[in-house]
Amino acid sequence: MNIILLGPPGAGKGTQSAGLVERHGMKQLSTGDMLRAAVKAETPVGLEAKAVMDRGELVSDEIVSSLIDENLAAMPADQGAIFDGYPRTAAQAGDLDRILAKNGRSLDHVIELDVDEDALVERICGRFSCANCGALYHDTANPPSKEGVCDTCGSTEFKRRPDDNEETVRKRMGVYRDETAPILPGYEARGIVTRVDGMAGIDEVADAIDAILT
Ligand code: AP5
Ligand code: MG
Repeated sequence: MNIILLGPPGAGKGTQSAGLVERHGMKQLSTGDMLRAAVKAETPVGLEAKAVMDRGELVSDEIVSSLIDENLAAMPADQGAIFDGYPRTAAQAGDLDRILAKNGRSLDHVIELDVDEDALVERICGRFSCANCGALYHDTANPPSKEGVCDTCGSTEFKRRPDDNEETVRKRMGVYRDETAPILPGYEARGIVTRVDGMAGIDEVADAIDAILT
């Protein structure tokens, strides 16, 4: 099973990917996470991407498609892939079709997380993650069960993303509307798009996604 989770910043792509990995043993391929790892490691890709990401703009199609290409090729053939935050442009959508075909895979579902943009700013500005294992939290919607301690690994160190401020979030939303939303009709024409109410609670959204996959 190969699926795309599509939705604007803060829609819940990362949160739902983590659930799918846990419940179904799929692999999350998040270009945002790959780029943040490259920035942290100060690789040539990371050095090029950092300023672009901090401005809320898109990193080049060549860079993100080659990250997906490398990561997909390294996966066992029978493991399902979740594309989180990729593709984001028409060119990337074309690249993904070619990369999947090269690996003997095809796209089963595009799941669109339907959300209210104003609520997303609140979601993103309240987001933080474990500095050790990356588990995702939210100040009010999804705090750790014991304050200040990661549920997953017990670490007490947390961090926030540099692009998670209102100005950059609004910029990222504009980029989503202009560059990413226009790739949906192509997938709709193939009959593989399902819309899920992304404003529901995290568990309800997970149930709705599971219903699509079974
Ligand atoms: P990326 O990391 O992909 O960021 P994004 O698309 O802006 O999406 P987010 O990660 O902000 O949101 P999410 O949907 O994962 O939400 P989450 O689950 O965390 O990209 C970052 C940057 O990298 C881009 O701006 C660009 O520069 C570059 N980049 C990445 N991919 C690229 C590509 N393909 N091409 C070019 N450039 C690329 O949830 C958010 C918060 O809400 C969390 O705190 C969570 O706990 C909470 N929450 C989640 N679901 C719910 C719910 N149902 N109810 C209440 N709270 C919830
Ligand atoms: Mg994310």
